[in-house]
Amino acid sequence: MDSRPIGVFDSGLGGLGVVRELKKLLPNEKIIYFGDTGRVPYGTRSPDTIKKYARQDVRFLLSHGVKTVIAACGTVSSVALDDIKDEFTLPLFGVVNDAADCSLHATKNGKIAVIGTEATISSGVFEKKLKIGGADSIGVACPLFVSLVECGFIDENDPCTMAACKKYLAPIKSFGADTPILGCTHFPIISKTISKVLPGVVTIDPSKEAARSLAATLSAGGMLSSASGSVEYYVSDEPRRFKDLAQIFLGEEVTAEKIEIEKY
Ligand code: DGL
Repeated sequence: MDSRPIGVFDSGLGGLGVVRELKKLLPNEKIIYFGDTGRVPYGTRSPDTIKKYARQDVRFLLSHGVKTVIAACGTVSSVALDDIKDEFTLPLFGVVNDAADCSLHATKNGKIAVIGTEATISSGVFEKKLKIGGADSIGVACPLFVSLVECGFIDENDPCTMAACKKYLAPIKSFGADTPILGCTHFPIISKTISKVLPGVVTIDPSKEAARSLAATLSAGGMLSSASGSVEYYVSDEPRRFKDLAQIFLGEEVTAEKIEIEKY
């Protein structure tokens, strides 16, 4: 038994998908969530900046005595995690490996698409794993999606989000992928619009796969909590927009506290 909290972080709202799944799978866990809303987006930044942000995010969560950290961010998982994980003594998890494995099981025609931030797609990390697994893949950067989500353009019929989906997802239709990986954790929030533009495909949500994998790892290691579950939310900018959108996404009211992430 280990009643220390689980740390989850993202550049903003995207990691809430991991929180939602962890709450379902591990209702006794305390979760500390950090959304770096003052520095979002991460996906247009250089690898060095993303690594610096990721280190600070992990240090902030460590200051809350977490037992493990999940980078609920495709960008950090693709660009930074391998380089920084040996700097910390606690286990750090990402969202790439399980999503890639799941897509390899799900595809019928062996053609998988990866959509993500510019940094994630430039890293080629998903595509390398899919190639090793024997699939053909196409990577498409969809940088506007993050801003659309952070600004609340999340209704499935929102005309701006629909137009961006049509523009960005056209190459995936031409490629004929039957299994798109939503390789940025912000993207499942607009998955209904994505599915309207790509009908009949199976979208892979990395948050779900990563939460399942973390739950299995903690259980196998005897590291589950038997206390009562709760979530504390922290952000690096004024919390109002985060709270409003988190409430829509999670279906419950949340409170969030602003912290100074540059101190960590
Ligand atoms: N949600 C993040 C990801 O999964 C980051 C998006 C961004 O900040 O650009 O990539």
